[in-house]
Amino acid sequence: AVMAGMSKAIALAPDRWIPGGTPDPLISHRHGHIGRPTTRIDGPLKVAGAAPFAAEFPMEGMVYAALANSTIAKGRIVELDTRTAEEAPGVIAVMTHRNAPRLSPPPAFMSSPKAAGGDSLPVMQDASIHWNGEPVAVVIAQTQEQANHARSLVRVTYEAEPAITSLGAAKARGSRTAMFMGQPLHDEVGDADAALAASAVNVDASYSTPRHNHNAIELHGVTVAWQDGVLRIHDASQLVAHEAWTLAQMFGIDEDKVVVTSPFVGGGFGGKCLWQHQVLAAAASRMVGRPVRLVLSREDVYRLVGGRSNTEQRVALGADPDGRIKAIIHEGVTPKTAFNAMPEPFILPTRSAYASETIKLDVQAVELDMLSNTFMRAPGESVGTFALESALDELAHKLDMDPIELRIRNEPEKDPTNGLPFSSRHIVEAWRAGAERFGWSARKPASGTVRDGEWLVGMGCATATYPYYRMPGGAARITLTREGHATVDIAAHEMGMGTATTHTMVAAERLGLPLEAVTFNYGDSTLPGVVLAGGSQQTASIGASVIAAHRALVKELLKLAGNDSPLAGLKPDEVGGTDCGLCKLDDPALYESYASILGRAQRVSVCVEASPSAPMEIMHWSMHSHGAMFCEVRVHAVTGEVRVSRFLGSFDCGRILNPKTAGSQFRGGIIMGLGLALMEETRFDERSGRIVNPSLSEYHVPVHMDVPEIDVIWTDIPDPHAPMGARGIGEIGITGTAAAVANAVFNATGKRVRDLPITLDKLM
Ligand code: MOS
Repeated sequence: AVMAGMSKAIALAPDRWIPGGTPDPLISHRHGHIGRPTTRIDGPLKVAGAAPFAAEFPMEGMVYAALANSTIAKGRIVELDTRTAEEAPGVIAVMTHRNAPRLSPPPAFMSSPKAAGGDSLPVMQDASIHWNGEPVAVVIAQTQEQANHARSLVRVTYEAEPAITSLGAAKARGSRTAMFMGQPLHDEVGDADAALAASAVNVDASYSTPRHNHNAIELHGVTVAWQDGVLRIHDASQLVAHEAWTLAQMFGIDEDKVVVTSPFVGGGFGGKCLWQHQVLAAAASRMVGRPVRLVLSREDVYRLVGGRSNTEQRVALGADPDGRIKAIIHEGVTPKTAFNAMPEPFILPTRSAYASETIKLDVQAVELDMLSNTFMRAPGESVGTFALESALDELAHKLDMDPIELRIRNEPEKDPTNGLPFSSRHIVEAWRAGAERFGWSARKPASGTVRDGEWLVGMGCATATYPYYRMPGGAARITLTREGHATVDIAAHEMGMGTATTHTMVAAERLGLPLEAVTFNYGDSTLPGVVLAGGSQQTASIGASVIAAHRALVKELLKLAGNDSPLAGLKPDEVGGTDCGLCKLDDPALYESYASILGRAQRVSVCVEASPSAPMEIMHWSMHSHGAMFCEVRVHAVTGEVRVSRFLGSFDCGRILNPKTAGSQFRGGIIMGLGLALMEETRFDERSGRIVNPSLSEYHVPVHMDVPEIDVIWTDIPDPHAPMGARGIGEIGITGTAAAVANAVFNATGKRVRDLPITLDKLM
């Protein structure tokens, strides 16, 4: 989601179109790797418990840290008594703002290309408090238990200042147009207010969504050591290169003196970025001269790691009696802090969703004295599609029209807000295929008419959408040996989504090698590349880097092959990898093996590094992944309990590289969407700004019993303007899902719930 602001595009004439996002002929089905359901290569390590996570790296002489955090939202520490804690068994030191190493504040995420800070607040540098839960002391002890005990002995006295801790109070102080990626979250096409007033049929409704918190299975944890002036961090990270750069700025050392590794991440979803814990662990390690491990408790994650902020949204739609939309208004309010740059950008999906002569989109931001919010599981699109797609369903109901027909009738020919052509948009195919497979024609349009004993049964649908992004991911390096083994190096991330597997497939496909002959190295800031696992763009981003490196490799191999090769005189674009060698693409008889080329050149290996061209494709095309979501719910007529009994996602996301991991990503996203729809809600005390349900016993996420078998299908139509034909798939499953559930609940019960989560009290 992090590149969303770039959708404001510059339209260039077609003859000025420069390659960069052009289709790549070598990412195809030549060798059968691409498109073959492939099991994760890291799977055996995971199930054997042999995959080392950040808090599992052993270090000689390591000690353990625990945090004490503030109990007020704003003010100053006036007394800080650490003596009892320092005297507790096993305690080595207690770090506070009084004795912590001096650090620069973190460059906040998006403030510069490699900035990773969740906010820009100084970390434990003075007595001021900015949110309820901010760390005030770090206890370092011989064992985790000793550290945990001693943190309870730290005594803090505060002088509180008035704090803004409720959305109501924040709104009363005024709002301003939210800025996202340097651009206002505001779009206007025509006069939407006038068009709405003039429309024959309209809906105008308010929707709200609560705060949400990250709950990855793997707690945020870090193992840190200073070794010969180098800060070594084993972390769970979505951005190792950004993190290394940012920590170097904070500690005032060279970038190459910080090494961040993150070989496995037990769930990220936008939350595994740079928060205070990595900084505090590094500072504590420097202070005590020992390696330090800091693992946040589940409660600590709620106190320290930003989540999604709440939203209040209005969606108004005006239409002709035949269902042609004439006006779209999507506006509302979301809170943020003064120290970060992440308003929940809920209007993003509405920019390109439906054809309408008039559109007005606006997000107003207000400021709270709470923990900074962050990117979280399709930020913007997940809660934005809840409001937009619920309103579409309300309009269909008013028009007495099938909701799928209404959506298809308003399918735009070009992007309705920026006027760009779509790179590839086959959402109508996705709707038709999904409706057929789901059995949509059996749906009864009248609400509350299908009953199975005490259960009311209903069906609903919604559009899913997520933008295609590609970040300038920097270089990838390929090393090819004479024996025919290739190693691909890039500072990317495997968070369980299948990155390593898919990019092994991509590299093997281009090189003409078996999967076993390719090693994909990632998760280490010393590797080339500046890749972020976020915005559902890591695969496209890495793919472009690997393509660039492979082109450089082919060029180098042709040079080494020389005039005695059957390939003599051929240009890099005329050859491709096959059978552990190179051949002419349109005449495979012209072939020479890698072993032969490198042997004749008396080389044991060849190594190249190259970067792709800038991601210009998003300036020329409106690029989005699409989906059609179908949900069947059963609502208990007596208790109001909602059970999702069937779900289908029908996607149009470009080429699907690995159907096995892609299917899992779609399903995982949909499960997160079910949590958003029915369960997840961060509760906080509006007087103190303290989160009151910081545990999985009180903050509910779907478990297996809550999730039906989820069916997923896709068009697999390559996007001609994405480097591998593939758009993002990581987050789209979360979008549209909550609206599909809400719309199914309406169909089952006749009750329209516009406030998430849809808990049973709202259906009584
Ligand atoms: Mo995603 S919230 O951009 O990790």
